[in-house]
Amino acid sequence: MNEQKTIFITGTSSGLGKLTAKYFAENGWNVAATMRTPEKETELTAYENIRVFRLDVTNPDQVKTATEQAIRAFGKIDVVLNNAGMGTYGALELAKEEDIDWQFAVNTRGPINVIRAFLPHFRANGGGMFINVSSFMGVTTAVPLGSLYNMSKFALEGLIEGLYYELKPLNIELRLIEQGGSKGNNFQESIVWNTHPEITAYDGLTEKLRSIMAGADDSQLDDPMEIVNVIHSLATRETNQFRNVIGSTGNQLMQLRHSLPIEEYMDTMRSYF
Ligand SMILES: NC(=O)c1ccc[n+]([C@@H]2O[C@H](COP(=O)([O-])OP(=O)(O)OC[C@H]3O[C@@H](n4cnc5c(N)ncnc54)[C@H](OP(=O)(O)O)[C@@H]3O)[C@@H](O)[C@H]2O)c1
Repeated sequence: MNEQKTIFITGTSSGLGKLTAKYFAENGWNVAATMRTPEKETELTAYENIRVFRLDVTNPDQVKTATEQAIRAFGKIDVVLNNAGMGTYGALELAKEEDIDWQFAVNTRGPINVIRAFLPHFRANGGGMFINVSSFMGVTTAVPLGSLYNMSKFALEGLIEGLYYELKPLNIELRLIEQGGSKGNNFQESIVWNTHPEITAYDGLTEKLRSIMAGADDSQLDDPMEIVNVIHSLATRETNQFRNVIGSTGNQLMQLRHSLPIEEYMDTMRSYF
């Protein structure tokens, strides 16, 4: 008989995290579903094989507690999905100091906190897997005013690729998900926009970007179940691809990025704005 596997997921209050938690639970996995405000959750708590724990990935005490709680509840964690993330957009000059730090704290330092908390457990078990939700904006640039988000996901990419060499000898696997905009999440609503009442130099670009983002209808957005299915096939080791570019926009961009010298790629991107 197959042993029941367990996945630990960050950021399960909405979007991809919630969908992945439900899919894994419905496919026989135990799920440690973590979120900042578990008191608001009603859907995931209805599943017998999902346990919900409080976790803000920027809070080291909560990372320690949630890790211990999940291990205590399920005995063994097989896969950790670093999914929690948010975007800070707008001109760097206009960004508040705390928003710059927060972007890094959630998208980059958060996964570092979670990975470090689980390494002793994975070493003791003789292995494990960290799947990390990045973005196509972690492997290429695509929009103006996205530099802070790019920074956070590019840094995540470097972290995970670097760790590959360190953890492979311990049978600890690392995977990256490079997704684009998908349906059914709160990502856009949660964006922190850098603005300044007196500096207008970036207004044109900002308006253009905001209108492109707001105008993206469902036909331009990817089906999040495609992403969930890739996460599942990585967790079950049906596939072992390190970088997983998912969705039409991401794949088109990556093709363009690889087919052109960087200057031509950037000129092409710029021509859209
Ligand atoms: N949607 C896109 O366009 C897109 C594109 C490429 C990559 N991504 C990446 O996909 C991942 C999932 O995002 P999504 O699309 O599903 O958007 P989402 O619906 O906004 O989900 C993001 C999740 O992260 C959580 N989160 C934010 N800050 C957190 C923190 N400090 N600690 C713990 N959890 C935190 C949010 O929880 P709260 O409810 O508490 O805020 C939410 O559950 C993110 O890493 C994002 O960067 C998204």
